[in-house]
Amino acid sequence: MVNVLLCGCCGFMGRMICECASTYEDVNIVAGVDINDDGQRKFPVYKAIENVSAPVDVIIDFSHPSLLDGVLEFAEKHHVPAVLATTGLSEEQKRKIAKASENVPLFFTANMSIGINVISELVKNAVSVLGLDYDIEIVEKHHRRKLDAPSGTALMLADAAASVREVPSEYIYDRHSVRKPRSVNDIGISAVRGGTIVGEHDVIFAGEDEVITISHSAGSRKVFAVGAIRAALFISGKDNGLYDMSALIKESMK
Ligand SMILES: NC(=O)c1ccc[n+]([C@@H]2O[C@H](COP(=O)([O-])OP(=O)(O)OC[C@H]3O[C@@H](n4cnc5c(N)ncnc54)[C@H](O)[C@@H]3O)[C@@H](O)[C@H]2O)c1
Repeated sequence: MVNVLLCGCCGFMGRMICECASTYEDVNIVAGVDINDDGQRKFPVYKAIENVSAPVDVIIDFSHPSLLDGVLEFAEKHHVPAVLATTGLSEEQKRKIAKASENVPLFFTANMSIGINVISELVKNAVSVLGLDYDIEIVEKHHRRKLDAPSGTALMLADAAASVREVPSEYIYDRHSVRKPRSVNDIGISAVRGGTIVGEHDVIFAGEDEVITISHSAGSRKVFAVGAIRAALFISGKDNGLYDMSALIKESMK
C-alpha cells in the first residue's frame, strides 16, 4: 500500500485525484494540504505542510508555486519521494527541484498525461525530418481559471522542438509588440483562455504550401490524475534523482 500526502487536495485536480485514487487498491490518501479546506475530504487536511504528522510514502502536489519550497523541504527532511505537477514555476524553482533531487526521488513534469508525452516525442521526430523549412507555432487553450500563461505543457513542447533544431530557438510570446517578419529562430507560443477547456495543445509546422499540425486534447482532468497516481506508484522506492514521464513510459514498456 502506498500512503499519499496530497497537496492542493481541495482544488479541481486534488478532488479528481481523490476520485481516481479510490479505484486503486494499492493507493491510500492519508492526509492533505490546502489553505482552503472544503470540509469534504475523508482524511485530515493541514493548512501548512510542516504540520503534517501522518506517516506518508509519497507526496502528490497539484497546488500553487508558493507551496513548492514547503514541499521540497518536507520531502528532503523526511526522505519522501514527491510527484510535482504544479505549473507556473520560475527557472529558480526548477533549479531548486534539480538540486533537491540529489537527496530524494522527485518526479516532475508539466503534463501528467501519457498522450502529451507521446506527442512530445512526435514533435522531436517531426522537427528532425522537417528541419528549418517549416515554421513552428504552438497554440494552447485552457479554462478561464488557469493562472499561468503560456502553459507549462506549451513550454515543454517548445523545449522538445528546440532540443533537436539546428539553430538556437527564441520563444516569441508577444508578436504585437514588434513589427517585423518572423525569424527562422522563432518558436511562436500563443495562449487562449476561456470557459472550461481542460487543455488543448497544437504544434503547427507551417511550410511552403503545406501545414502539419500535431494536436492533443484532454477530455477531462482524469488523464492528469491517472498519470499522477501512476507516477506516485512508479517513484515509490526509486533511487534519488529527477524522473519524468518518459522514464515511466520506458519502465512500463519493459
Ligand atoms: N502537470 C499536470 O499535468 C497538470 C494538470 C492540471 C493542472 N496542473 C497544475 O496543478 C495546479 C493546480 O491546478 P488546479 O486546477 O487543481 O487548481 P485549483 O486552483 O483548483 O487548486 C489548487 C489548490 O491548491 C490550494 N493552494 C494554493 N496555494 C496553496 C498553498 N500555498 N498551500 C496549500 N494549498 C494551496 C488552493 O486552495 C486550491 O484548493 C496548477 O498549477 C495547474 O496548472 C498540472
